Amino acid sequence: MSFDLVFFGGTGDLTWRKLMPALFQAFRHGKLPEGGRILSVARDDMPDERYREWLKERFREVEGPKRPTDEEFERFAALLHYRRMDLSQPEHYQRLKDWLAERNADTVVLYLATSPHLFTQICAQLGAAGLNGPKIRVVLEKPLGHDLASAQEINKAVRSVFAETQAFRIDHYLGKPSVQNLMALRFGNALFEPLWRRESIANIQITLAEGLGVGTRGDFYDRTGALRDMIQNHALQLLTMVAMEPPSTNDADAIRDEKLKVLRSLKPFTAESVGRDVVRGQYRAGTVDGKAVPGYLEEVKVPSDSACETFVALRTEVQNWRWAGVPFYLRTGKRLAARDAQIVVNFRPVPHPIFPGGNVANKLVIKLQPEDGLELHLLAAKGSSHGESLAPVSLDLDFDKAFAANRVGAYERLLLDAIAGRLNLFVRSDEQEQAWRWVEPILDAWEQDTTGPRPYTAGSWGPPAASALVARDGFAWAEEQ
Ligand code: BG6
Repeated sequence: MSFDLVFFGGTGDLTWRKLMPALFQAFRHGKLPEGGRILSVARDDMPDERYREWLKERFREVEGPKRPTDEEFERFAALLHYRRMDLSQPEHYQRLKDWLAERNADTVVLYLATSPHLFTQICAQLGAAGLNGPKIRVVLEKPLGHDLASAQEINKAVRSVFAETQAFRIDHYLGKPSVQNLMALRFGNALFEPLWRRESIANIQITLAEGLGVGTRGDFYDRTGALRDMIQNHALQLLTMVAMEPPSTNDADAIRDEKLKVLRSLKPFTAESVGRDVVRGQYRAGTVDGKAVPGYLEEVKVPSDSACETFVALRTEVQNWRWAGVPFYLRTGKRLAARDAQIVVNFRPVPHPIFPGGNVANKLVIKLQPEDGLELHLLAAKGSSHGESLAPVSLDLDFDKAFAANRVGAYERLLLDAIAGRLNLFVRSDEQEQAWRWVEPILDAWEQDTTGPRPYTAGSWGPPAASALVARDGFAWAEEQ
């Protein structure tokens, strides 16, 4: 199958930091279909050769074994092309069309790695140039909108030119191997499904914690905040994967229909419940990994009086038969104690404990980062004579070790899926709009609330109110258990 892959924003950060290294890995692993061309388009004028050199320089920043050798880069670079393109000029789209016609590849993937405010314009121009035929796919990077209205506007522009089956909305968390393993765990094994419900599960916690701060992205981040940056997309997508009903097939729409149902079942927020069930925080100077780090307000390109949240913890419920009354806690933040992304399923304790020493409940931990694995926490007899002394043990599965040779990174997986036309791990417009609909009352309530985010020390687990949120129900976050 021949393909042409076009990166709009071909000299941008996303392209050289994430997309090109991921493509290179696919190439190195022999997974990129033969006969492909990769074209980067951007404002600068340069011949292919200079673009290749420019990218080679950027690749020097790629760490460790992922960095290509010179010989590997030369072979990869043979696929790379570059054209100048002014995105407002119709004749430049015509030139792109001519370039694509030279090869007439089986599949054309147009990856919009530009600022999202250009999406509407680019889609209209692509449509006007007739670059929307059935073999064309368009990949859209987050943030897709700033709120429901702007997301709807982008979707309308996309829909007026492309069919929904041509639109690949990226949420890179869906490409993480552990997320696919969550699907495998739930729907490829009979073991957990009978327990995956309110009768057996006490609460579910989704934590996406980062040790890093906002780095050089202060201006972007300050307009965005943790709710839009991580909860509206990544955390909610994980929640849908955990809570969805078994889809009838493994087809994209069967899966996305079930995910949408979960989003529609989420308990809606009101101004009053936002005050009670959502905690927002902002980091102050502290220590992360033994290094002193500045507070958010001291970061580059952040206004010194910013009320932007760098931390969110919230409590919600999935209001359906399976999950009625089970709290789902979501939490994300920058400059937290560790880089740690995980889903913790806390089971109910045994109904009638007969052993002394407390009644510790089972828990299943799906680890996304830094390692990718599963832990099943159990109680076992320590081996004393009467077995009365129980100790917690865990069955650990490290996917990196188990499947080392076949591990594929998130962007690599998603790029290969876009080329192959597999939509399973991409977000449909109705899902994405429903997620915005659900977070909007939080944004509205915060706009009215002048108290601003609660401070927390960099290197901690966020404001104490986040612990209180969970403690109110008689539970604790995983690191406090
Ligand atoms: C991005 C956010 O979507 O996800 C970043 O914009 C965040 O702020 C990143 O750092 C986290 O992704 P990962 O894969 O490193 O956990």
